[in-house]
Amino acid sequence: MAMLCTASALPHAARGDAEAAGWALKNYGAVLIKTTGQVVSADEFKQLAVAAWQAAGHPSSTQEYNGPGSVNRAEIYEGVYDVNAGRTNTMPVPPHSEQSYLFLVPRFVAFSCWEQAKSGGHLELFDNAKIVQALPDFTAKLRAYNVTYQRVLGDRTKGNWSYATGHWQTKYGTSSFAEAQKKAAEDTILGGPAGSTLKPHLQDTALMEWTVPAVSDGYMLNAILDNQRSFNENDGLAPFHSQFGNGEEFSSKDLEALRRSTQEALTHQILMEPGDVVVLDNWRWAHGRQPYEGKRVHGSVISDRRPVHGIF
Ligand SMILES: [Fe+2]
Repeated sequence: MAMLCTASALPHAARGDAEAAGWALKNYGAVLIKTTGQVVSADEFKQLAVAAWQAAGHPSSTQEYNGPGSVNRAEIYEGVYDVNAGRTNTMPVPPHSEQSYLFLVPRFVAFSCWEQAKSGGHLELFDNAKIVQALPDFTAKLRAYNVTYQRVLGDRTKGNWSYATGHWQTKYGTSSFAEAQKKAAEDTILGGPAGSTLKPHLQDTALMEWTVPAVSDGYMLNAILDNQRSFNENDGLAPFHSQFGNGEEFSSKDLEALRRSTQEALTHQILMEPGDVVVLDNWRWAHGRQPYEGKRVHGSVISDRRPVHGIF
């Protein structure tokens, strides 16, 4: 059995039936393409993903993942990114829409499995519309203030910052902090027209900040739970954080309500088999991963990036 589903089965499409995959993607926002246990090549994975979202009416090829993100994600094959970047297998990956902390959010994301974990590692899908419906007050506040994301970057010449957010000199390709600040201000993929800011921070680090919407077209489109100091896997300073765009911290009540509503929006738990391809509308579904044991080889690709609708 390829899937363990908490509610209803994810729509399936056979390999090569792009029309069925596109129909499911358009109408349900998610599709599982079955390749009957045959591992797909990196190229076929990309072809299946692109054919699905193109059949759903979005003329995009796969796009570069790295650059605007905060963690430089390794490739497992050319143009196919390791889903595990910056993560520990014994911890779950909390629900998030891919790179939804950016102003320009990938419209679609696709996953493929090359090797299953020894145990665990289910892909989980969460209904972003259901989360909005469950939290009217919180989402009204998010609409009013948006969300400010924070990243801590190290300084190559000082300290011993080793987290995957890296060093500001590397990210901005300069040893001049003023030049790095200028480049941060021009980073519209990250922060939209307002760009981002970079300022000196604690323990010889630098703090990068930018503010973007968290609700779009009736869908929660955020990485708040994934970006809290309390969810910190390294020693020392927390590299990721987020707060309301007015500088107010999310209260533990806000976070608990968001966590609970997100958990209640869990609709699918999918144990992908080698050769399976899952294509998601990154607006409609947030995804996460259960803890696992052993080696797990899963890759991802993304489509074009879109500004969050209706706000800018
Ligand atoms: Fe992800």
